[in-house]
Amino acid sequence: MATETRPRAACLIGWPAAHSRSPLIHHYWLRKLGIAGGYSIEAVPPEGLADFVLHLAQRGFVGANVTIPHKERALALSVPDARASAVGAANTLWYEGGELRSTNTDVEGFIDNLDACAPGWDEIEEALVVGAGGASRAVIFGLIERGIARVHVANRTAERAQALADQFGAKVCPVGWESMAEVLPRAGLLVNTTSLGMYRQPALKLDVGRLPPHAVVSDLVYTPLQTPLLAAASARGLRTADGLGMLLHQAVRGFELWFGKRPHVTAELRALVEADLASA
Ligand code: ATR
Repeated sequence: MATETRPRAACLIGWPAAHSRSPLIHHYWLRKLGIAGGYSIEAVPPEGLADFVLHLAQRGFVGANVTIPHKERALALSVPDARASAVGAANTLWYEGGELRSTNTDVEGFIDNLDACAPGWDEIEEALVVGAGGASRAVIFGLIERGIARVHVANRTAERAQALADQFGAKVCPVGWESMAEVLPRAGLLVNTTSLGMYRQPALKLDVGRLPPHAVVSDLVYTPLQTPLLAAASARGLRTADGLGMLLHQAVRGFELWFGKRPHVTAELRALVEADLASA
């Protein structure tokens, strides 16, 4: 019987080959855990995606991350779990029982980061999620999975917030873009999933002073690390969870699925990625 001698390798499939922090993160964990493995970036054009994904193992990969613009098609090319199906996009592929499976690790990345930054955050009844795109779907799915009773969703384009309520059911309540501030006094958690607050973008204008004192504020934007929203929340003494924390936590599951050990998000790893962001 042949024994496996080649080091296990995973990759990030995207187009074009954009700069990504994933190789830095996975190489750090491979080194720390003493695993002889690899993680590369593979630029795959849309017309080559199906062939690449369906022959991942033949190309020497035990699995992959998938990024823009391939996440929706990767879902269709694999057997998705409940998270990937609900989000409508797959960002992680692996083999299980001869089958190519997929998940969306943004869900646990978001939740695990909250658990790490603000333990007990889930003792709340209501949350306000700003934005209604793919990232918002991952956040909402995670909040409902965790048992949050009511998730208000505000989006500039109201129809997209309504579509999320239609998809996820009565726990998701659309709220008008202009009236979202009215929900703040009841929101134990505020999450920004839009690009507002990113470099060269306007800030999300919300008075975090209207949140209850125990509230937690989370922003998925990580360029800059401290968005105007997070800065305002910290200044008010509220607990915060930033986008870099979510990025690091979402990488854990893929590594575990491909290399067989669950890695840790450490201060050292965070500092490494922060330095990379600062040099970009
Ligand atoms: P992602 O997968 O990152 O969620 P997306 O699906 O393109 O990306 O969603 C982007 C989100 O940011 C949407 O909620 C979008 O609002 P619209 O649905 O109205 O487009 C929101 N967004 C982006 N720029 C915005 C802006 N300048 N003001 C308000 N919302 C904005």
